Amino acid sequence: MEYKTLGNSDLKVSVIALGTWGLGGGSVWSDRDSTPAEAARLLDACLDQGVNYVDTAPVYGTGASEELLGAALRGRRQAFVLQTKCSLNWRGEGGNFHYSRDGYTVNNDTRPAAIVRDVEDSLRRLRTDWLDCLIVHYVCKSFPVEETVEALEGLIRAGKIRAYGLSNSQPADLEAYQRASAGRQGASVVQEFFSILSPFHGRDYFPVCQKHGVSFQTYGVLEEGFLTGPAFLERQFAGTDIRSRIPWVQPRYHEGLRRAFAAWAPLCEAHGCSFAQLVEAWALAQFPNMSLLVGMRKPENVADSARCLALRLSPEELSRMEQTVRDIQVEVLDK
Ligand SMILES: NC(=O)c1ccc[n+]([C@@H]2O[C@H](COP(=O)([O-])OP(=O)(O)OC[C@H]3O[C@@H](n4cnc5c(N)ncnc54)[C@H](OP(=O)(O)O)[C@@H]3O)[C@@H](O)[C@H]2O)c1
Repeated sequence: MEYKTLGNSDLKVSVIALGTWGLGGGSVWSDRDSTPAEAARLLDACLDQGVNYVDTAPVYGTGASEELLGAALRGRRQAFVLQTKCSLNWRGEGGNFHYSRDGYTVNNDTRPAAIVRDVEDSLRRLRTDWLDCLIVHYVCKSFPVEETVEALEGLIRAGKIRAYGLSNSQPADLEAYQRASAGRQGASVVQEFFSILSPFHGRDYFPVCQKHGVSFQTYGVLEEGFLTGPAFLERQFAGTDIRSRIPWVQPRYHEGLRRAFAAWAPLCEAHGCSFAQLVEAWALAQFPNMSLLVGMRKPENVADSARCLALRLSPEELSRMEQTVRDIQVEVLDK
C-alpha cells in the first residue's frame, strides 16, 4: 500500500480508501444489506491490504453504515483514519429539503448548530470520541460559508475532528473555504465524482487543489460497478437503486461500454489485471495528490483494488483507454 498526507493535515492515509455507501444497504443499494460480521470481515481485509482510510456518511443507509462501522471498529479504532460527513440530516430541524426516501426526509443544513449536532450523532453511531476527517456532504449556497468554516475550525480546536473537507462542490467553493479559514487549518480534501466516463469536473478542480495543497478524493471511479466488466451490464436493479438511475443503464451507453471492455481486454491480459484495476490505475495517473475512494462490501474486492497500485500504464495506454470512451463521457453526474 502507498500512503500520502491528506492535504495540509497530519493524517497519513492509504491511497486506496474504503467507501461504505453500499455497506449501508437500504433501497439505494437494494441487492444486499450487510451484517455486523460482514462489516468486521471487510475491515479485516482492509488491514490485511494496508487500507487505513475509511469513508462513511450519516445518510448511508440512514445511519446503518456508521453503525456497522462503529461495531466493526471496536478495539481497533486507532488503526483507521475515519472520515464521515455533515450537512445532510433527517432530524427535521430545518435546512433545505434534499430528498425523501425509506420514510425519512433528509435536509441539507450547513449552519454551525446543525454541523455540531451532526458530529455528535456520528460520534455516537461510530462509537468513537473523535473523527479524523469531516466532509461537508453537499456544499450549500443558502448559508454563509464563513459560519460553516468557523464551526469546522471550532471542531478542530475542540478535538472532535482533525481535518475537514467539502463535497459536491465547485472549485470556487474550495476558494471560498480557504479564504474563510485564512490563517487556520483550512480544508484538507475535496471529495468529488471522477472517472474515465466523467473526468471533466475533476480536471477543472485539479489546479485549484494543487494551488491550495488540498487532496482530491474521487468517488465513483468504478461507476457503481458498471466499469468492473461486461457481466455487470447484465444485472437488473430495483427502480430505487442508484444503479438503475445513472446513465450507464441506457442502451446507447451499454453499447459504448461493451466496445470499451473489448478494447481494454488486451491491456488487462498484457498487465495481468482486472478491468477494475485498469480504470483505477487510469484515475490515479490523472493527478498526483489523488485519493482513490472505492465502494467495497466484499473482502476480495479490497484485495483486487489494492493491486491497482502496482500497475504501470504507459502514457499511450492511458490515452488509448480514454479514447475508447470519448463518445460516451458525460459532463455532470449527480449521485
Ligand atoms: N460525496 C458524495 O456525495 C458521494 C457520492 C457517491 C459516493 N461517495 C463515496 O464514494 C464511495 C465510492 O463510490 P460508490 O460506492 O458509489 O461506487 P464505486 O466505487 O464506483 O463502485 C462500487 C461498486 O464496485 C464494486 N467493486 C469495488 N471494487 C471492485 C473490484 N475490485 N472488482 C469488482 N467490483 C468491485 C463494488 O462491489 P461490492 O460492493 O459488491 O464489493 C460496488 O458494487 C462510496 O461508497 C461513498 O463512500 C460519496
